[in-house]
Amino acid sequence: MLDKHQPIIALDFASVQDAKDFLTKMPKHQPLNLKIGMELYYLSGSEFVKSLVDQGHKIFLDLKLHDIPNTVERSMRILAQLGIAMVNVHAAGGQEMMTAAKEGLLSANIQSQPLLIAVTQLTSTSHEQLITEQLISSSMEDCVQHYARLALQAGLDGVVCSPQEAHLIKEVTHSHFLTVTPGIRSQHVPHTDDQKRTLDIASAIRNKCDFLVIGRPITRSNDPEQVYQQAVKMILQTRKEIDNA
Ligand code: C5P
Repeated sequence: MLDKHQPIIALDFASVQDAKDFLTKMPKHQPLNLKIGMELYYLSGSEFVKSLVDQGHKIFLDLKLHDIPNTVERSMRILAQLGIAMVNVHAAGGQEMMTAAKEGLLSANIQSQPLLIAVTQLTSTSHEQLITEQLISSSMEDCVQHYARLALQAGLDGVVCSPQEAHLIKEVTHSHFLTVTPGIRSQHVPHTDDQKRTLDIASAIRNKCDFLVIGRPITRSNDPEQVYQQAVKMILQTRKEIDNA
């Protein structure tokens, strides 16, 4: 199981060796939450994922499946056998496809089921694109909430969303429906990358984010272990403050 008190580190590297080199700079002999995306998965196949699982790490396999229900179901059955902790699909694939994804995972002969979450709208999609390209006339918030409801009805465990949307998701689902949020950036360190709708760690937790996905602020840092440990400390501290309030 992924540890909610730790961020999920996005292992976005151009080679397996780069990812391995990065991991040597992280705390030793401690299971980490790691996200493997398409880049590394397409480069290294399932072998690298399996080796990380064997080392005790908890893996979120961020492949965002989106295909006909039968193909997604069969693919999920195979992915479940890798021993991963979380996997995802695009909600835009429809409720039937999401249900098929869940059934695929359930039909795999494994001890512990990975969490299944849905991508609502990509954080890179603007409201204008929603209207002009997808021909969706509702607001981004309505669309994201609608997809979250569909994912819940399909039996999924949660959604990927922007940290700014997390509380909107809880409003239309329930408190245990998971929000997994990239776009985490410090208020104090100005960033110039592509993430636009960001929140800092404490604000994200207060806004009801369950799992924080953090990539470049850790992976591109000169001292990744220190940034990681600070993030863990901040998550714990904020959760304690909320519990004591
Ligand atoms: O480096 P950074 O902290 O921006 O990493 C965020 C990670 O989350 C990246 O791997 C990115 O692909 C992923 N992601 C995202 N926005 C989404 C879905 C996934 O940033 N809506």
